Amino acid sequence: MTNSYPLATSTWDEKELQAIKSVIDRDVFTMGESVAQFEKDFCKFLNTKYCVMVSSGSTANLIATAALFYTKNPKLKRGDEVIVPAVSWSTTYYPLHQYGLKLKFVDIDLETLNYDLEALSSAITDKTKMIMVVNLLGNPNDFDVIKEMIKDTDIFILEDNCESMGAEYKGKQAGTFGIMGTFSTFFSHHMATMEGGFVTTDDEELYHILLSLRAHGWTRNLPKENKVCTKSDDWFTESFRFVLPGYNVRPVEMSGAIGIEQLKKLPSFLKQRRENAKLFVELFKNHPDFIIQKDISNSSWFGFSLIIKPTSKLIRADVVQKLMDAKIDCRPIVTGNFTRNDVMKYFDYEIHNELKNADYLHDNGLFVGNSQVDLGKEITYLADILK
Ligand SMILES: Cc1ncc(COP(=O)(O)O)c(C=O)c1O
Repeated sequence: MTNSYPLATSTWDEKELQAIKSVIDRDVFTMGESVAQFEKDFCKFLNTKYCVMVSSGSTANLIATAALFYTKNPKLKRGDEVIVPAVSWSTTYYPLHQYGLKLKFVDIDLETLNYDLEALSSAITDKTKMIMVVNLLGNPNDFDVIKEMIKDTDIFILEDNCESMGAEYKGKQAGTFGIMGTFSTFFSHHMATMEGGFVTTDDEELYHILLSLRAHGWTRNLPKENKVCTKSDDWFTESFRFVLPGYNVRPVEMSGAIGIEQLKKLPSFLKQRRENAKLFVELFKNHPDFIIQKDISNSSWFGFSLIIKPTSKLIRADVVQKLMDAKIDCRPIVTGNFTRNDVMKYFDYEIHNELKNADYLHDNGLFVGNSQVDLGKEITYLADILK
């Protein structure tokens, strides 16, 4: 049975199928010229210097975190304290934990769904080394305010933009405000390459480290002149020479070929998502029962969040049932308050003050989908159902 309002729809047509076929015809399936071209195109789209495509947004977060340990002057070391928002995806946090960092969880704002800026400001101390900034459900953070908070310190930002490709803050692409930014191209995201992701940066040393970490920690993908090691002219030695404790998180060539086609369509996908959002905001902005997400600059609207207002008599389980009966797909808002998950028993962490808003969202929030197709009928139907 098909849903009347699905969470996501396919972004592919004949172009992507043709791209897959072109890889089959070439008979080279491992990372190659298509991935390289997609990286170049994505750099242009973001107006950034370097893009490294990987197998997922999660592995983008993994090698971005790892890279910070291997610069000539390490930017992070085990035991360092990093600030994270209480609501994000699990694999925003896991690499930080796996690299021995101490996580300090900070509350979110019920309207933007990003950091509660007052809570963030009060969480920063001289122990803080990094702030993990996550742009949730398409909404960029208020980077001017956050940068102002850390302007006289060495604290830097790592940006998880896996939910917010194409979002802009004051005309600049989200994902380009930190020392590195990460992206996901998994299904249901702004564009889809089966699995896939990116790390982007303007820092050449980090770029070279990422190239090595992506593929076995070897030297083979490094340019001759690079900031990781001195490479010899002996191709035999350099084929199996290992300089960093890396991974294999390479994307496959088909994902690159599909991505080239998807990126051409991205501006029109974003335009339609924003048009859908206009209607959603129009219908829900003064709703007696729901708080909706507040766009602080130019959101790329991953989905539409609905949080039951404290003054409403609605109960979330009833709302979810009503949506299910109406065949409208919905989900919790990302992970809710992540610290309420069992996995926390493995973490070294601290909760800054209270996570009041994250808790409230955890118990009273849900989101419905947005996509690159005209959802006028679906959003109007949703509004009718929730009247
Ligand atoms: C904030 C955030 N970070 C990371 C990821 C991981 O991306 P992927 O599913 O491509 O591994 C997601 C997934 O959607 C996410 O929402």
